[in-house]
Amino acid sequence: MSSCLSGKHIVLGISGGIAAYKSVYLLRLLVKAGAEVQVVITPNGKEFITPVTLSSLSGNPVISEFFTANTGEWHSHVDIGQWADLMVIAPATASTIAKMANGVADNMLITTYLSAKEHVMVAPAMDLDMWAHPATQRNIATLRADGVDIIEPGSGELASHLCGKGRMEEPEKIVEAIEEYFRSEEAPLPLAGKKVMITAGPTYEAIDPVRFIGNHSSGKMGFALARECRRLGADTVVVAGPVNKSLTPEGVRRVDVVTAREMLAACEAEFEDTDICIFAAAVADYAPAECAERKIKRENVEEMDLRLVRNPDIAATLGKRKGERTMIGFALESDHGQENACRKLKAKNFDWIVLNSLSDEGACFNTDTNKVTVFGADSSSVSFPLESKDKVAKDIMNVIVAGLL
Ligand code: C5P
Repeated sequence: MSSCLSGKHIVLGISGGIAAYKSVYLLRLLVKAGAEVQVVITPNGKEFITPVTLSSLSGNPVISEFFTANTGEWHSHVDIGQWADLMVIAPATASTIAKMANGVADNMLITTYLSAKEHVMVAPAMDLDMWAHPATQRNIATLRADGVDIIEPGSGELASHLCGKGRMEEPEKIVEAIEEYFRSEEAPLPLAGKKVMITAGPTYEAIDPVRFIGNHSSGKMGFALARECRRLGADTVVVAGPVNKSLTPEGVRRVDVVTAREMLAACEAEFEDTDICIFAAAVADYAPAECAERKIKRENVEEMDLRLVRNPDIAATLGKRKGERTMIGFALESDHGQENACRKLKAKNFDWIVLNSLSDEGACFNTDTNKVTVFGADSSSVSFPLESKDKVAKDIMNVIVAGLL
């Protein structure tokens, strides 16, 4: 059977981690599938695996240094960038990921990455603490925002004999991810010509110029959906409450708001030509009836009653004017999840509602993972395991795209 990798030009970047031994098998699989592979290895990578093994399997000399020492031949990273259809870095160590995120071009692998015109995928591999460290997670978030695909590491025994997340994904799975990328590149984009509007993050409702009522929503789920919608070809706009600026994926437009009323106004301004609305924001239910003009001084106030008024329901308001649009909502429930979600689906005129449960570990605010069930207005439902929010976004959009066909 011919593979969609046949004739594809792939740069395989290898950095210095023990998982480099698996890259030999990955290279073998890519070549077997008909791809032409150019290996670029870091100086540390060569400590783990020899260039002779890699050049024998790829049929091409391995590139590691800027120059070949005895002939002075210069290896052009620009030429590699023009030749390649895809760059895959496996394993990507914490250090290589940090250098990629910050443009530290001190070896041939990073210069090749910085000159790459082609899509880039990385398969991280490191110890569990290094993977979990905020510095690594920041760098991963930067790479994602730069359009790099992260092939999530798995959990299991690590080279340190510790057990946890950080194992490079198995070569067969990396090949599957590469095949999926090429297939999606060749298929017509299912949301081309459609406009998607997504609400994301919390809203802040001011009590005085300093304090507000808010919640712990990070906006990560909404922006993961935005990245996926963009990848599927949609003109994508996120109406975002106060969340991190670096979350915005390439090619996605962002409208920043603070309060629920501002979020409603921004959504109304975008609504007319929108085809798909996804309401992923954790909108504050209530706002203070008045906002004090000056900071409230606690010395002057022994007890305080805060009068609250209900905020507009953005999803329900727009649901009344739905027309031909497709609408998707979220429900975060602590109990009677299915019952509450399905009630909201009807009340707000949604086509689908995504339920995440407060009782599921790793499926709450401010995490990088989520565990969801998608309920359809046609009484269908599909549940997914605990996954990265990027994977959850893909799963949700697969359901929606299939329903649009
Ligand atoms: O808060 P509730 O559980 O009702 O939220 C369900 C859905 O409605 C979510 O998709 C949320 O983004 C949306 N919503 C909204 N405006 C509100 C409250 C909720 O758009 N004021």
